[in-house]
Amino acid sequence: MRFINPYLFVVTTLLAVSCTSQKETASLKDVYKNDFYIGTALSADQIEGKDAKVDSLIKKEFNAITAENIMKSMYTHPQKDKYDFALSDKFVAYGEKNKMFIHGHTLIWHSQLAPWMEKIADSTEMKAFMKDHITTIVSKYKGRIDSWDVVNEALNEDGTLRQSVFLKTLGEKYLVDAFKLAEKADPKVDLYYNDYNLEDPAKRAGAIALIKKIKAAGGKIDGVGSQGHWNLNSPSLEEIEKSILEYSALGIKVAFTELDITVLPNPWDLKGADVNQKFEGNAQMNPYPEKLPDSIQNKLAERYASIFKLFLKHKDKISRVTFWGVYDGQSWLNDWPIKGRTNYPLPFDANLKHKKAYDSILNLKKAKK
Ligand code: G3I
Repeated sequence: MRFINPYLFVVTTLLAVSCTSQKETASLKDVYKNDFYIGTALSADQIEGKDAKVDSLIKKEFNAITAENIMKSMYTHPQKDKYDFALSDKFVAYGEKNKMFIHGHTLIWHSQLAPWMEKIADSTEMKAFMKDHITTIVSKYKGRIDSWDVVNEALNEDGTLRQSVFLKTLGEKYLVDAFKLAEKADPKVDLYYNDYNLEDPAKRAGAIALIKKIKAAGGKIDGVGSQGHWNLNSPSLEEIEKSILEYSALGIKVAFTELDITVLPNPWDLKGADVNQKFEGNAQMNPYPEKLPDSIQNKLAERYASIFKLFLKHKDKISRVTFWGVYDGQSWLNDWPIKGRTNYPLPFDANLKHKKAYDSILNLKKAKK
């Protein structure tokens, strides 16, 4: 029998245990803590901590939160004279308890409006709505919410202004007014313009013009939120990089606010996140109902690695990177643009296990050490 040195045995075992536990305790928020916030979007159930496993994953991996739905106007302001802050109070308390960066999404958006808001048809009523809505909500969380999406998705794909109910009733002045009202209610909170496809040249030019206009008219705008609903091939890294540089040259922060990467077929070549685009599905459109093939899993990991490599290159310009959801099973991309598919857009799978994409994001930082 070979002699086993007991001292060496103990040291080796301890080292093995410590390496394993180090691996297990590494987390996105910790490895990126000197670079930018790593955020996630929470559903109502997650805000209420209903699933203990999901809850501990959120606390371990993320240091910034956005409410995926419950701070949209149909939920916070269901009737003209009635606000409902039950869930948003819980959301803010969750972030405070866990010392997270708290982002408010969203104040002025044409979608998910309460039915009574859709009926507003004249400028006097709309002006009164905006003043009451923005002032009430931003003041309520003054000093507690760290940044707000003041206006969401005001642009068309060609960079012109969307014909929203706000534009129709108030003209383009509604944009600067929204930022001014938010600043008045909480002068210190960071104010963002948030949209999808902001890397596309035409839309990017529109966003830059919009941000310049808001600034020129005396509005305070601190950042641009690029949603980042991307796919495996587009947008190109070149366009993402150009957009980081061009937005930051305006003297504002750049945040990636709703990052996810669809791996499913998209024969209509849709980009972004227009929730009004809905299509019929069939088996061909849902090719991986049980499991993502390794080849695509690897592609997703490579895509995430190249994106985060670029983010790290420009970390001085980037304030936050937030994934749109905690894990694949809850992603909105299972229902858009076709309902009921199985998509795999996030770093955690439907069983909350981290995917190769997660490892590829973490490994970028390990490789640097
Ligand atoms: O809460 C109701 C429930 O009572 C009802 O039974 C059920 C029936 O469909 O619907 C539930 O509401 C859904 C809601 O999410 C909450 O789960 C809506 O149907 C569904 O349309 C809604 O989708 C959200 C979508 O915004 C709506 O615009 C997605 O979860 C959310 O991820 C998505 O987020 C947007 C960002 O806010 C802005 N940028 C694009 C992004 C993706 O579309």
